[in-house]
Amino acid sequence: MSTNRAVRFTGIDFQNPFLLSSAPPTESESNILRAFEAGWGGVVTKTIGLHPVTNVVGAKAKFMRTSPEDSCVSMKKRPGAALHSSWNWELISDKTIDWWLPRIRRIKEAFPDRVLIASIMAGSGNDKELKNWQRLAQGCQDAGADGLELNFSCPHMDRRDMGSNIGKDEVLCSVVTEAVKEVATVPVWCKLTPATAEIEVEAGACFRGGADAIVSSNTFPSIPLIDPETLEFEINVDGLVSSGGLGGPAILPLSLAKMSQMTRAFPDRSFSGIGGISDFNQALSYILLGCGTVQVCTAAMLDQAVGPNVIKRLLAGLDAFLERNAARGWTGVEDFRGIRRERIVAQSEIRRPDAADYHSGYEAVEGYARAEA
Ligand SMILES: Cc1cc2nc3c(=O)[nH]c(=O)nc-3n(C[C@H](O)[C@H](O)[C@H](O)COP(=O)(O)O)c2cc1C
Repeated sequence: MSTNRAVRFTGIDFQNPFLLSSAPPTESESNILRAFEAGWGGVVTKTIGLHPVTNVVGAKAKFMRTSPEDSCVSMKKRPGAALHSSWNWELISDKTIDWWLPRIRRIKEAFPDRVLIASIMAGSGNDKELKNWQRLAQGCQDAGADGLELNFSCPHMDRRDMGSNIGKDEVLCSVVTEAVKEVATVPVWCKLTPATAEIEVEAGACFRGGADAIVSSNTFPSIPLIDPETLEFEINVDGLVSSGGLGGPAILPLSLAKMSQMTRAFPDRSFSGIGGISDFNQALSYILLGCGTVQVCTAAMLDQAVGPNVIKRLLAGLDAFLERNAARGWTGVEDFRGIRRERIVAQSEIRRPDAADYHSGYEAVEGYARAEA
């Protein structure tokens, strides 16, 4: 039986389910062309906006490492330390829409069979901002983008009507998605922030607005650690820091938890998983929970900027997994997607030595426990 890497996700055909996520690996034409040459099935552009962007002085992203010798998490480089996470406070692309559109066109001409998704962002505070979303959407799709990813998730926007501030407001999630869907001729994905209590609420709002898929996670809000010698934040400008985003291995279980909340709430919908993926084993967890594609940022940043070795590992891992499971009749991703989604249940459904003693934390004889028994 021959194995098949290809997937169809939100009506788009992908040669494989592995994408570079919107971030520095996808910030330029040359990077995106290199990514497709390396074998990525799709690329989501660095987020494109209409508002002026000026990043902070100095480093916009750094990596934290830890080691068994010092069991310390730090941005300081030391031999033998393993990657813990990435931390960034980079804003969206500082290039204009006029810079991006001819490049989207050229990339699609060079790689017509690969998937290019345009990540876009505007505000949401008034009708003019909703029109900005539409302008961005129309420009990118007319230039040849195969789909749109709405950035409702950047954790460090000052504007109250942008980025994760949209993703934290279910009404704005719906309204913006609907505005984009009014003009969209290509699939629309919404990238949500993990910084809310019940992410399935915002996912539901996006679906009501017409979203074709939900993407998660963007980075988790976080601050850099304080150096115990200098008492300064490990990354700072003039001693000051603001909240930024955590990515990489540290967020894998957190991001999987967010994803499982959504895939359980909407088992028939499409999801693209991100967070802490560097080889197939991690991608597999997202797929088993129901994701149809996965995306990678931190691991690619550390591998020649666009992850040529990461994509090799992902493809080899998928091939080997399908071969190992050929006897089950699995020939492609759809055959095992979502098969662990329903294994996440309430605490009370987990077996314990004596089930009769446990009443979901309520007293056995009191009202609620009796009603639920
Ligand atoms: C330096 C940096 C810049 C990023 N810029 C964007 C962006 O412009 N738009 C976006 O949607 N996500 C952005 N992200 C988030 C990533 O796409 C991704 O969601 C996140 O890093 C988690 O994936 P990872 O664990 O593979 O890094 C950025 C991440 C980093 C580290």
